[in-house]
Amino acid sequence: MIFNSLDIQQMAALAAQVAKCLAPGVSICLWGDLGAGKTTFARMVLKTLDSSIEEVPSPTFTIVQQYVTAIGDVWHCDFYRLIHAEEVFELGIEEAFYHDVCLIEWPEKIQPYLPENRLDIFFTISSDLTRDISIISTGIVDVSFTP
Ligand SMILES: Nc1ncnc2c1ncn2[C@@H]1O[C@H](COP(=O)(O)OP(=O)(O)O)[C@@H](O)[C@H]1O
Ligand SMILES: [Mg+2]
Repeated sequence: MIFNSLDIQQMAALAAQVAKCLAPGVSICLWGDLGAGKTTFARMVLKTLDSSIEEVPSPTFTIVQQYVTAIGDVWHCDFYRLIHAEEVFELGIEEAFYHDVCLIEWPEKIQPYLPENRLDIFFTISSDLTRDISIISTGIVDVSFTP
């Protein structure tokens, strides 16, 4: 599925639809350059899952950030700073790929270990205020979103 030139409100509407198809054992991989909108999208998903979540800091420095939501634990990960994919095992979150929900920025850093049951969402900058988004489902996630 491809969505072109989404402004921030259209992005929020899409993130809300994506949030509704999440369940324990499903991950979202957020692909795209710096500033493409990965953290913004993850923040929108988390706020849809639980409106009481106020702060969603970028996990660039903590690498993982855990949230407790109505659908279970959600892990927001940013693997930008990983040098070796195997470092993911030191973070103790590989179990979470299968039992919880993970929102993963810079998934290319752990490419060999990506969870199979996932949505891949690709972000590209189409203008200052818009982003092109493409969504591919791998595994058992059934998706159908409207722009
Ligand atoms: N349509 C849009 N969708 C998402 N972010 C947008 C959009 N237009 C502008 N932005 C801005 O782009 C920036 C994206 O930053 P961020 O989400 O941190 O990117 P990343 O995590 O991919 O590095 C934010 O400042 C956000 O406000
Ligand atoms: Mg980010």
